[in-house]
Parts: sequence; structure tokens; C-alpha cells
Amino acid sequence: TVPLVIDTDTAQDDCVALLVGLLDPAADLRAITMVAGNVGFDQQVRNAFMTLNVAGASPVPVYLGSRRPLVRAWVSAENVHGDGSGGLDMDQAGREPEAEHAVDALVRLAAESPGELSIVAIGPLTNIAAAVIKDPDFAGNVKSLYIMGGSNNGRGNITAAAEFNFYVDPEAAKTVFGAGFEITVVPWDPLTLRRAVFGQERLDEIAALGTPLSRFFTRVCAATLEFDRKVGIDGTTHPDSLTAAVLLHPELVREASPYHVDVETAGELTRGYSAMSWGVHGLEPNARVIEDVDADGFYEYIRSLLARETAP
Ligand code: BDR
Ligand code: CA
Repeated sequence: TVPLVIDTDTAQDDCVALLVGLLDPAADLRAITMVAGNVGFDQQVRNAFMTLNVAGASPVPVYLGSRRPLVRAWVSAENVHGDGSGGLDMDQAGREPEAEHAVDALVRLAAESPGELSIVAIGPLTNIAAAVIKDPDFAGNVKSLYIMGGSNNGRGNITAAAEFNFYVDPEAAKTVFGAGFEITVVPWDPLTLRRAVFGQERLDEIAALGTPLSRFFTRVCAATLEFDRKVGIDGTTHPDSLTAAVLLHPELVREASPYHVDVETAGELTRGYSAMSWGVHGLEPNARVIEDVDADGFYEYIRSLLARETAP
């Protein structure tokens, strides 16, 4: 099994990524750490606990982390995700977050088993950057860092130039890419838009499973689906769950290349832009960027997890 932590701004596909970590027998999910991003912080925590409940999973500790970016004010994606749960109001079943701060937990968990722990970072990179600042050994202690963020064709989703996770905390993203981690990046465009969108036929198939997990999926993805259709994306988007999936199942990756990745912090129109530079610019690679995946295999993988019967 793969020991991992998921660092998340839990809404919509973050919930699906948590299901990957909770339900896949290949995963040894040691912790969930929360970071400011998609929707209000407390709502994100509720979304994470509701996901734990619906997965019927054995208790995984949830740690509360950074409530705002390193330097800038928080920017939400509530216009895309609503409350991130489709208005679900499930019993939290007595679950409480841990007292330890998420950044301390990340530093501690990495130091407890140096070279073993992987981190799947699917929100703004504030907690990861804070852990780097706190512990100079942190990056070296982490086996691999899987990041959902940026684009490698220059196209953003929150501005013309920037993807949301990097836009919200560009200073954190820049810090992380300069910190010496073994990084794998799942970008928004073109990878997510070409390979990790579930169109109506797939959404119908998932709904037809009729399990508590499939109902939960349909519900948490509803607001995003509505938004996506308005902007011309024909389905629900799954970059976060793809990021967790490729860590656990590297055979899903069809093409990945070394890049030097850096993040714009000063641009007027390009805040959070991810400069992904390949060989020709003479910069040392600091990340592996995934360029193609087995899209059908990824969908089948998610569908098979949602088909499982769990006790909600
Ligand atoms: C990313 O931003 C969030 O809205 C999603 O959860 C995903 O992590 C996509 O840009
Ligand atoms: Ca996310």
C-alpha cells in the first residue's frame, strides 16, 4: 500500500479524491489536511467529514490548516462549487478534527517515516509551503508530492492565465516548486479538460449504480456541472481525483515529461500563471508533468469505487 496524506480544500472533486484515498485498498491514507481554497473553511471541513461518513471508512484524522494564503486575501470558487457538497447536510457522526495544526501534522508525519510518505495536494499550496518554511528537512522527508495545479498550455480557469489553486496562493506555489520535492503535476489544461471530464453518458452510468456513494457523487458534482455547462465544458471535471489515482495507479499515466515549473507572483494579468518550461530553455527540471492518461481507465476506476456498497 501507498502511505499518503491528502491536502485538500474539500468541495466537489476533492470529495471524490478523498473517496479514492479512503476506499482504494492500494491506499494507506494517514491523514487529511485542510487548506483555504474552494469554499468557506468550515464548510470545507463539513464536506470532508460528510465524505468520511459516506465512505463508511475507518477513522482517518482530519487536521485543520491554513485559513488564508501566505500573503494575499482568500479568493473562493463558490461561484463554481456552491457549498461544494450540493447542499448536503449529513450528520457528522461525532467526528471532530484533531487538535494539532495541519502544518505540524504534515511535518511530523513526514519526519516519522522519512522517504515513505506521499502527499496529494489538491488545493492551494499554503500548508505545503508553510511546512517547507517550518522544517528545512520536510521536502527531503517526503517521498513524492503530487500536485493538482497550473496548466501547461498557458490557459487558466480563474483568469486567462491562471489555474485556481496556483492563483489563490502563488507565493506558496512558487515556494513549493523551489523546495526540492519529487513533484508530479496534474495540470488543468490540457490534461484535465481532455481526459478527466465525465460527460452525460458517464454521469448516467454512475447514477444508475444506485449506491450511497454514487448518489453522493451526483450530489457533490451538481453545482460544478451546471457551471461547467455554462462555460462550455460538457461534464464534470475530475483533476483532484485523477491526481490521487495516478499516485496509486501509475499505469494510468500514458505520457509524462520533466519540466521546470515556476509560478508568477508579480504579473498584472498573470498572477498564478504556471511557467512550464521544457528542455529548450536550459533550466533544470523540478517536476514531472503528466501530459496524457488512460481516460477510460480512470473513469472505470472511479466508477468501480462508487459501485461499492458502504454503510453511510
Ligand atoms: C482546482 O481548483 C478547484 O476548484 C478544484 O478543486 C481543483 O483542485 C482546479 O483548478
Ligand atoms: Ca481542490
